[in-house]
Amino acid sequence: MSTLSHKNPPPPCAIVIFGANGDLTKRLIVPALYNLARTGLLPSRLALVGVGHNDKTSEQWRDGLREFLEQMLSKTEQAIDESLWKALSQNMIFLKGDFEKPETYKTLDGLLGKIDKDVGLGGNVLFYLATADRFFAPIAGKLGEAGLVKDDKGFRRVIVEKPFGHDLQSARDLNAYLLNYLKEDQIYRIDHFLGKETVQNIMALRFANGLFEPIWNRDRIDHVQITVAESIGIEGRGNFYEKTGALRDMVPNHLFQLVAMTAMEPPVSFDAEDIRAKKAELFKAMHTLAMTDVVRGQYDTGTVQGEPVAAYRREPNVSPDSNIETYVAMRLKIDNWRWAGVPFYLRTGKRLNIRSSEIAIRFKQAPHALFRDTPVEELDADWLILRIQPDEGIRLRFNAKRPGPAMTLESVSMRFNYKDYFHQAPAVGYETLIYDCLIGDATLFQRADQVEAAWALVEPVLKGWHDTHPRHFPNYAAGSEGPSAANDLLAKDGRSWRDIRILGGK
Ligand SMILES: NC(=O)c1ccc[n+]([C@@H]2O[C@H](COP(=O)([O-])OP(=O)(O)OC[C@H]3O[C@@H](n4cnc5c(N)ncnc54)[C@H](OP(=O)(O)O)[C@@H]3O)[C@@H](O)[C@H]2O)c1
Repeated sequence: MSTLSHKNPPPPCAIVIFGANGDLTKRLIVPALYNLARTGLLPSRLALVGVGHNDKTSEQWRDGLREFLEQMLSKTEQAIDESLWKALSQNMIFLKGDFEKPETYKTLDGLLGKIDKDVGLGGNVLFYLATADRFFAPIAGKLGEAGLVKDDKGFRRVIVEKPFGHDLQSARDLNAYLLNYLKEDQIYRIDHFLGKETVQNIMALRFANGLFEPIWNRDRIDHVQITVAESIGIEGRGNFYEKTGALRDMVPNHLFQLVAMTAMEPPVSFDAEDIRAKKAELFKAMHTLAMTDVVRGQYDTGTVQGEPVAAYRREPNVSPDSNIETYVAMRLKIDNWRWAGVPFYLRTGKRLNIRSSEIAIRFKQAPHALFRDTPVEELDADWLILRIQPDEGIRLRFNAKRPGPAMTLESVSMRFNYKDYFHQAPAVGYETLIYDCLIGDATLFQRADQVEAAWALVEPVLKGWHDTHPRHFPNYAAGSEGPSAANDLLAKDGRSWRDIRILGGK
């Protein structure tokens, strides 16, 4: 895994973006490339080729992307830096073509040959599939048939966006199809959560400090809570969400990756294959989810940040009797030496009372003997909270004596905030991922077996939910903390969810 400081620019190359006019390209990929230029980590010789089916000239494509970038920068009162934009845009070419037509790839082949000769790119090409998932297989297949992914002269890599399949069978089919044309080490399956600094920092926290690893096990940890809470709704993406739902959208990818970072065994090195092997071992140790381990929810009308908002079933392009879940909570068991008996509780949902993503590790309670006269509710257990977004940082909550003659205790916290310690370069979260792909470091990308293992774990729930209609939908008000059934899930184990609105303590 790369750390972006103290790094060299990647080798010269062409980046071909399928979906050149899409939202991902303008909001995330091009700004990430601009930020890489800012940190001196753009290839010294670069060509950017955009493929899309609109009528556009290269100038129009370039100018449109520049305009969007300028708007983005202006939100933080920055102006575009002309020298950085020049480095990024000097070889920007738009290719009008349909992803499904072989002639697109024939033209692309000729174009890449010419650019390589003119600019000197050593035959290196990264293909970025910034398209709807139904195009992943056809594009990869047609690239293969056109001989565009042969890596005998330079590297040929393909970034595949999410979602990677919509269940176990479709993920297997997609993997099998891609592997007809590409070698596994040419495929970079992206999970943009892994581009977040705070997620990468979990490994630094665990493995670069002597302090934590000895207590990172069932002897000291009672349970782990992982939360990805969003206050926004589905943002007009009804068509997409009706086919997806919270479980498919968030769990086998983002949430399981957070579990993997938190729970995997120490790798022998930070080499991609060593880390991926440890993650794969962890996925093997996870219990397949049972229906009784999972709770689903769907939001009703409510109030979010003082504004009234509509129920999910009233959102555009959503069926008025939709049974799609916008919330999911689950108990995950990991059957290995380190974690046996330590439940991992995961929850994610839309239209919740706060936007917050965190991993909260609850340590076992100290013996009460010394404090037998203290009300037990005042003796909170210790928590280590890894805050992913917003306000990235780490909190350690522990008990301290309140000043005064009596031995009374209060839960207090020590805080580390990223922004107080590090000058953080502006980032959209895709910088490290694109850079790593350009240098051939696959650590932060998912291997085929990981993707399939993750789908296999959730498969029984997908089937069960497909066959049984939820009885009480909608079952939580927008702006609340989610359905009460999620509280019951933990109450059965004698536990409760952490109030994520309390960042670091009282
Ligand atoms: N947007 C995000 O914030 C985001 C974040 C994370 C992951 N992703 C993933 O990134 C991928 C792309 O998302 P997106 O939001 O950028 O999608 P998008 O806005 O729909 O972009 C896809 C582009 O492909 C073009 N296109 C469609 N069919 C085509 C064809 N047959 N030939 C040539 N061009 C064609 C579309 O053009 P028309 O519009 O003219 O049809 C559109 O410009 C998806 O897999 C998504 O899940 C997106």
